[in-house]
Amino acid sequence: MKVLKINGGKTLSGTVRISGSKNASVALIPAAILADDEVTICNVPEITDTDALTEILKYLGADVKRASESILIDPKPIVNKEIPEEMSNKLRASYYFMAVLLAKFKHVEMYFPGGCAIGARPIDQTLKGFEALGAKIKEENNKYTIDADELTGAHVYLDMPSVGATINTMLVAVKAKGETIIENAAKEPEIVNVATFLNNMGAKITGAGTSEIRIKGVETLKGCYTEVIPDRIESGTYIIAGALMGNYLKIDNIIPEHVETLILKLKEMGVDMEVGADYIYVSKKDKMKPVHIKTLGYPGFPTDLQQPITALLTQCEGESVLQETVYENRFKNVPYLNSMGANITQKQDTIYIKGKTKLQGKTVEATDLRAGACLVLAGLVAEGTTTIRNIGPVLRGYENIIEKLNEIGADVKIVCLLYTSDAAD
Ligand code: EPZ
Repeated sequence: MKVLKINGGKTLSGTVRISGSKNASVALIPAAILADDEVTICNVPEITDTDALTEILKYLGADVKRASESILIDPKPIVNKEIPEEMSNKLRASYYFMAVLLAKFKHVEMYFPGGCAIGARPIDQTLKGFEALGAKIKEENNKYTIDADELTGAHVYLDMPSVGATINTMLVAVKAKGETIIENAAKEPEIVNVATFLNNMGAKITGAGTSEIRIKGVETLKGCYTEVIPDRIESGTYIIAGALMGNYLKIDNIIPEHVETLILKLKEMGVDMEVGADYIYVSKKDKMKPVHIKTLGYPGFPTDLQQPITALLTQCEGESVLQETVYENRFKNVPYLNSMGANITQKQDTIYIKGKTKLQGKTVEATDLRAGACLVLAGLVAEGTTTIRNIGPVLRGYENIIEKLNEIGADVKIVCLLYTSDAAD
């Protein structure tokens, strides 16, 4: 069993460079299928999530070449075949293949399991978008069979601003006859990244990044080039690490606007920062003020930084309040933080974090990706050694996290344990 061991208390300084966005990449890679010729996607992070999606592309017959941070995809050889469960159940983003295969072949057969550690995560809004565009959907034991005689533009109103449903509807609409309007669309930057890629192929999309997106369907989409935006959640995670243990730590290759709500919250807490055009310097602040945070869709405070910032809130002098409005089960990091010495109580969708508390290194578990990130951050500030089990989820969402942390002064390593009992304190 692999565990992460962190010797806490090290000052973080120097520069950490942010990689391409996981949540943009996992939509851009399937979207490549829509092109009638080769596409190049630059700045794709090398993480297991992107590997899992390129495996599906290869399984379908695409020619895929990975060159450090770029992927060259020739979708011409692709054939439409059922995507097996063992490939699609590795990550939720595999459902973007439903959209692109429906758009390209008007027929899809794939398994798609719902739910995960942070909530039910249904896909009803995605299916609503597909049906509005003319698809007929059958689901039996998590296997979806989707067909459309014709795809026709429609006026789609999403019940909630779902990122996935917005992207999935857009991916199908680019090949539907006529115009599609998506209302109550999500506004995340990753959606803009996908729309830019599709427009580079020759799609006609306007309004991405706002709550109303208009798409005029086209017959053909040509090969092109696109670049993945910097990962705003990775950026935020390292900015929080700097607020915990930084000494003029530079987080480089970011888009400050994409982490604006985090920066504003850190300013409220009294954290010292210097924000540049594509970087931020941040240092540890001893006396931080407590804050109130409510997670919302973009541009609100991102739910994906809710668990990471909880580690920082344990170091504020006073009680912070954090309300999670997006997912129903995204506080699994709390018991582990409390075992390390934090003082956090939960009432329904809100946690109350009393600080400042001294954290002690303990053996904890990464229940999901961002809970794992929270525990890594807690381990950086805790006294002694923190051992994190089940680190797979963390490695799938943060490119080269061990190397990046050690390069800025942390003391983190992956240890292979023969027996689970070895992981005890
Ligand atoms: C994307 O997930 C991200 N994942 C998530 O990041 C992120 O937390 C989320 O957007 C919100 O910002 C990727 O982009 C791969 P949603 P997605 O559809 O598209 C409910 C991470 O840590 N909902 O906006 O699945 C849903 O249950 C991950 O990197 C429905 O009810 O998010 C959730 O409560 C975690 N029906 C809420 O809406 C639907 O059809 C937001 O979901 C769709 C969603």
